[in-house]
Parts: sequence; C-alpha cells; structure tokens
Amino acid sequence: MCGIVGIVGREPVAERLVDALKRLEYRGYDSAGIAVIEADGALSRRRAPGKLENLRARLSQDPVDGVTGIAHTRWATHGVPSETNAHPHVAGDVAVVHNGIIENFAELRAELAADGVVFETETDTEIVARLLDKHRREGLAPRDAVLAMLQRVTGAFALVILFQDRPETLYVARYGPPLAVGYGSSEMYVGSDAIALAPFAQGISYLEDGDMAIVDRDGVEFCDFSGAPVARKRQPLQLSSMLIDKGNHRHFMEKEIFDQPEVISHTLGHYCDFANQRAQTDGDGVDFSKVSKLAIAACGTAYLSGLIGKYWIERFARLPVEIDVASEFRYREMPLSEDQLALFISQSGETADTLASLRYCKANGVKTGALVNVTGSTIAREADAVFPILAGPEISVASTKAFTCQLALMASLALRAGRERGTLSLEEEQTLVHQLSEVPRLMSRVLHAVQPQIERLARELSRFHHVLYLGRGTSYPLALEGALKLKEITYIHAEGYAAGELKHGPIALIDENMPVIVIAPHDRFFEKTVSNMQEVAARDGRIVFITDEAGAAASDLKTMETIVLPDMPEFIAPMVFALPIQLLAYHTAVFMGTDADQPRNLAKAVTVE
Ligand code: AGP
Repeated sequence: MCGIVGIVGREPVAERLVDALKRLEYRGYDSAGIAVIEADGALSRRRAPGKLENLRARLSQDPVDGVTGIAHTRWATHGVPSETNAHPHVAGDVAVVHNGIIENFAELRAELAADGVVFETETDTEIVARLLDKHRREGLAPRDAVLAMLQRVTGAFALVILFQDRPETLYVARYGPPLAVGYGSSEMYVGSDAIALAPFAQGISYLEDGDMAIVDRDGVEFCDFSGAPVARKRQPLQLSSMLIDKGNHRHFMEKEIFDQPEVISHTLGHYCDFANQRAQTDGDGVDFSKVSKLAIAACGTAYLSGLIGKYWIERFARLPVEIDVASEFRYREMPLSEDQLALFISQSGETADTLASLRYCKANGVKTGALVNVTGSTIAREADAVFPILAGPEISVASTKAFTCQLALMASLALRAGRERGTLSLEEEQTLVHQLSEVPRLMSRVLHAVQPQIERLARELSRFHHVLYLGRGTSYPLALEGALKLKEITYIHAEGYAAGELKHGPIALIDENMPVIVIAPHDRFFEKTVSNMQEVAARDGRIVFITDEAGAAASDLKTMETIVLPDMPEFIAPMVFALPIQLLAYHTAVFMGTDADQPRNLAKAVTVE
C-alpha cells in the first residue's frame, strides 16, 4: 500500500525523501512523487509513474532545494497509475499525501464541483487538498483548516499536509493506516512505518486513530480531531538500517529465505525453554485451560500458518479451532462466547481485514491475542495479549521468514496449550520441544543442499502456465502456501489442493502440460499421498516430489524431479519443507525476470479492505 515520508529539516531534503521512499518500496507502488517548499518560498512538486528511478531522473533534470518536504509512493485505488494521479496532490497553496481511501469522496467532489471547483485527477485524495484550499480561502489558519477538513472526510486515511505559508511545519492525521512521527537532532520526520525513518530518527511516536499531529523542527504537538491535546509516548527506535540491507543477496526475498535458520532460532528460543525442554509461559495473561475454543483470523500466508497451527493445537491441546480468512471472519457473524480466545496473525500488524476482525471480537467481549511481527503495529496495540513473531523486518512482499516464524510460534503455543490443558504429558512435551530445537539446524542443511537442484527445476517450471500443489495433513496448507508463493511472484497460475481432493475435480486438469508438486514427508499420510501421485502419473502429469530420505526410498514412481530432505519428525516438517517451496518460487521468478521483491499489483501491508 502507499508509503508516506516527510522531513522538516535543515538541509535540502529531496534526496533523503527519495531514499526513505526506497525503504518503503517493499509495500508495493506504481508511481511516486515529492513536494517541497523551496528556498524562494515556492511550493514545488515532482512526480513520475513507475519505479523510483523515474522520480530520481526527474529530480536530477529538474532539482528542488527545499528543506521541508513530503513524499509518497502510490498504490492505485482510485484512478489509473499515472503522473497526474500520483501524489502529492496540490490545490492552491497546499500539498497532500495520503494512504487509505476517502469513502465519501464522490459526494464531497460533487459538492465542490457544484461550487465551481475543477478537479485535475481521478483520485479520492484530491478532495482533501481541495477542501483544505477552500478552508484556507475562507480565512482559516492551517491548523483549523486541517481540523475542518477532518470533520468532513470519512474512510481510512494517513495524511501528511504541507502549506506553502508554513514552510517549517507538517500537519499529520491518522484514521486507519499507520503513521509515525520520528525525532532527530533539530529535525523531525513522519513516515508510514519505522523502517522508513530508521536511518535518521532516534525516537518514534505512533499516532492513534483519530490523532492529528503538528510537526515542526523542534518537536510535535498531538491532538484529537476536535483539537483537544493528547499525549503520545515517545519510544526508542531500535530498528537498525543494517537490518534492512540486502547484503550480498540479489533480492530481499533471497536474503529472507536464507535468514530463516537464524531468525527462527530467536523465535523458538523465546517461546521454548530448551534447557528444561518445556514450552514457555510468557506472562501474557492467557490460560489455555480456561479456553473452550479458539478462533483464528488472518489473511494470505498468515492465514496458512494459522491453518497449520490448527492441526497442531487440535492434536496436542485437544482444543477446537475455527479458522477463517479475516475478510470472511469479520462479516460472517459467528457466535462468540466469553470463554473463547481469538488469535489474529499478521506480519505487518496493519492488515485492514485482520484488524477489523480483532475489533469485532473485542466489541463482543472475546479475549484477543495478536501474533505479529511489527510489534508497534495497530493490531499489536489493540490486542489483549501480544505474541511477537520475532522474524525481524520482512521487506519482500512475498512472506517467507515471517511464515516460518509464525509456525514456530504456533507450534510452541500448541505445546504450551497442551500442557496447560493436561493433554500432553511431561515426557511428550519434552520430546516435542526437543524436536523443535532441531529446526534451525535442519533448515540450514536443507537450504544449502537443495539450492542448485531447485535452480535447475525452476528453469523447467518456468515453461509451464499452470501448476498444481498437493499435500495431506500439515502438508496441505503448505501446498496452498507453495501455490500462493509461486503465483504471486512468477504470475504462473498455481493452485493448492488437499491430495485427497484430487479425484473430486482437479484430476480433470492433469496431462503432460501440468506439473504437480507433491509435498509428502514420510509421515502417517505418506502411503495415501503416493496413491494420489500414482493417479497423476497414470495421466502423464509431471510430478515434482518433495519428500525426505525415507519417502524417496519408499517410492519408485517416475518423477520430473525428486527433492530429498533429511528425515525429520512429522511435527516439525512444515517449517523445514517450507524452504524448498519458497526457493522454487524465488528461482522461478528470477529465471523469468519478474520482480521477486515487488510483484505487480501487490502490497506488503494491505491497509484497505
Ligand atoms: C504473502 O506472501 C503475501 N504477500 C500475503 O498473502 C500476506 O501474507 C497477507 O497480505 C497478510 O499480510 P500480514 O501478515 O501483514 O497481515
């Protein structure tokens, strides 16, 4: 989704604004722009469709020298991606950048058009600039004009506003999408997230929904939309810009795949006591023995980690789990009870549907827990209990390390729930915790062993237009994740199915043009999955068999490729088997020349419905 940055500085800011936008590229965008107040007092704007390099080129042909400025990467919602629709939007002496959707823009636009206002763009954002311009012409000071505008707009918005006659001040407002204020030495910043501000800010304050902030070089004043002062905590900014560097990797996705053995060891170390081989209880106020059932809501990859978590929690803790994609959860009006717990899984902690589902539960008196990677996020702040995923900043749009760390967290929670509910003996818990301790080592081994083979396979896979993924048990959500990963970064059509569902429809698709990727560790379901593979082979389907040593030894089926992982216990297999499916999607994207880190049409944090 859109990225926002603003600086009230002492030196010219254009270059730093574009660098900060670069750090927000991971959110997904289709055009970019900046506006500054120049030394001669002029409000100047430069915009360009496409990548940030186009904006840099525009700025080098036609530089700007202002020390206060705002900048934006746009992910189109209203109006095609174009220079005209790119932000900042300017009306009179005001420039505006916006993330979100102004829901009543059509009504406001008709009202202003009837007064003779001519609109230049197809965007909902222009209405904000036009309203502000109107209020200024009516004689309101900037602060009052912003407050008056905020009374008129509805929907979701993070806004940063620059007035030509206030060259050292930014006006900021939030209702929905995240926005933060950063503190520097005699400089101040605003940004969509801490990553944008990481290299320059020493501290950060997050705006809450319904907050406005007036930011100048020496500090910030927070108030609500009626103008009444509010206090917002300043926190240290701990994100080092080192953490958001690609290092020697070609893409963030590749780096994040290879980061997994290390980051998952942090997650596991936090949620397991390996010395005593017990799952940790973290003082989070949750007691699973008092929970009658669990609801889980999440989107995309986070939803799929929840689906694997459901298998574990039901098996080890005998706790019934209902899981939905958040966009359905929030509307299906499920009966809720006060003795249930609702968990919300989100890397960004800002996904609009997941947040709305959490709010729905809270409004119905249900205790909520957030499994989030960005701990300063809205979902983390609003949940009753927070379970950090601890994957470190994930920049690539395709989620990899957040997924496996979510699995590590769900696995540890399942064991803890089993202990608290008396469904796991001490011995069973210790065995399973010991198995978890093996995950980082196995991951490391797999990453290095399978990489060359997967590169070769990716080259072959790129010739096909459709791919099926199959799995049983916890390998079924992994099949869904494999298909999601492949389609989102290579644009090859891919679908995941429970292997047992093959005969109920998808088998009609099988012929020599259909690769079928079968994820089948040698577990309780292996024989049944092999029967499904035989059905594929009998119809000339091309099988890619992802298995372990025992599985490879037990099958003599002819495959297009067999990827053999070390033998491992069934419990931990999803975390390790995730790696070849991530690598396969990644290398196929690299081979096809698509943008692995910023796939078309996608955003990292989906802050609109
Ligand atoms: C994963 O590769 C996707 N890009 C996407 O499905 C993502 O997992 C989903 O949008 C949820 O995001 P969240 O974890 O930040 O809530």
